[in-house]
Amino acid sequence: MGKVTVGVAVVGAAAVCAAAALIARHRMRSSSLCVKAADIVKELEEKCATPTAKLRQIADAMTVEMHAGLASEGGSKLKMLISYVDNLPTGNEEGVYYALDLGGTNFRVLRVQLGGKSGIEFTEFAEVSIPPQLMIGTPEALFDYIASELAKFVSDEGDKFWLPPGRQRELGFTFSFPVMQLSIDSGTLIRWTKGFSIDEMIGRDVVVELASAMKRRGIDMSISALVNDTVGTLAGGRYGNSDVCIAVILGTGSNAAYVERAQAIPKWHGPHPKSGEMVINMEWGNFRSSHLPLTEYDNTLDAESLNPGEQIFEKMISGMYLGELLRKVLYRMADEAALFGESVPPKLKTRFILRTPEMSAMHHDTSADLRVVGNTLKDVFGIMDTSLSTRKIVVEICNIFATRGARLAAAGILGIVKKMGRDTIRDGEIPKTVIAMDGGLYEHYAEYRSCLENTLDELVGDQLAKHVKLILSNDGSGIGAALLAASHSRYL
Ligand code: BGC
Repeated sequence: MGKVTVGVAVVGAAAVCAAAALIARHRMRSSSLCVKAADIVKELEEKCATPTAKLRQIADAMTVEMHAGLASEGGSKLKMLISYVDNLPTGNEEGVYYALDLGGTNFRVLRVQLGGKSGIEFTEFAEVSIPPQLMIGTPEALFDYIASELAKFVSDEGDKFWLPPGRQRELGFTFSFPVMQLSIDSGTLIRWTKGFSIDEMIGRDVVVELASAMKRRGIDMSISALVNDTVGTLAGGRYGNSDVCIAVILGTGSNAAYVERAQAIPKWHGPHPKSGEMVINMEWGNFRSSHLPLTEYDNTLDAESLNPGEQIFEKMISGMYLGELLRKVLYRMADEAALFGESVPPKLKTRFILRTPEMSAMHHDTSADLRVVGNTLKDVFGIMDTSLSTRKIVVEICNIFATRGARLAAAGILGIVKKMGRDTIRDGEIPKTVIAMDGGLYEHYAEYRSCLENTLDELVGDQLAKHVKLILSNDGSGIGAALLAASHSRYL
């Protein structure tokens, strides 16, 4: 063999070795990144775990806080607000009533013609989204916008809606934020939630603000009832089913209301209601307990929010936040485990870029190659190519957060059922408890909904499961507000 040939052979061998070393290093790095990715998912799974025993502790903590919030104003993180609704609709309500439902990114206006015993004769509604700048602007700008949309809607009222002569139109105002009510038709805002932040409004009467804006727009209508969406849902639910005694909203935000015995409300010093009952708006979104399975992602989400330290339960279970929690985990995995390649895709850094409906679409992807997941990652984050194993990881994280949220919501419901004493057999009979559910998360996120339903059955046990039922009360809150306007009409 000549010298040249030997030299080529040596160089060739060196190149092969270097390439092999590179491949080995690459493999080692890839496998250590895989391990890192698996560790992050495993850690998340452990921290988000909600075994039944933990859920029972959470339910008990909810019951304890309910007692404390009813005992005195400020006695608990749970506000347990008195709604001044001591009678739910009977089904005899009659006439045309309006409702305005403000509480998330959209607001709705609706009118109903109530026909007494013949029920709801007609309804019409319009839905308008709220321009984001109005959510953090001034009270006047927000209420003027709402009033102008209401004015347009009122001007379209057709002949089938009928107002007796000499009467002014009446409206039920669903305002889905914590409000300290002073009567059925007045109340001051305690604080904003769900991304709204208009400081000037805090402490102001929301009915006065809406009424002034309506006057500025020349709308001839009075506001007969101010209700939280949970209270509206309870009223709407009861109208259709006399066993409804709890309402839960799982949408952008989350909350629950229920019917309490007036005697069990030590902080209520008003006249004893004839019905002996009072609807309580719990504001359960603000529930907090050491038993809640909080993670580092929850903590940063909270710290970065407009309301740090508040609405911790809501931030774990509701639609406004689930997508953002998922984004936070994906960001960490991109950064620490190169889940989407060598560099972190820039859009993955944008807060709230991934919405819960997109998370839900990925979670429900049944295609063999998880096409919906791939497309969503592309459309939302601009991540072009993802392997099947990466897509599977994404689905796994969706599942972890949705399961945790749904199971916690079920524990919250158990807490209310217990507070109402409906978890036990009374006089040999098991009372029927129907829970009216509303909100886009519950309505559209099927995995979340079925997990919630199964968990509630699991928590109440076989014997009770048949007697504790969830029903979807679609737009119960709007109709409910109109019904409450009717039952609190000034012409009665
Ligand atoms: C609000 C509640 C409301 C719930 C659902 C929460 O953020 O504080 O008043 O009922 O969202 O809309």
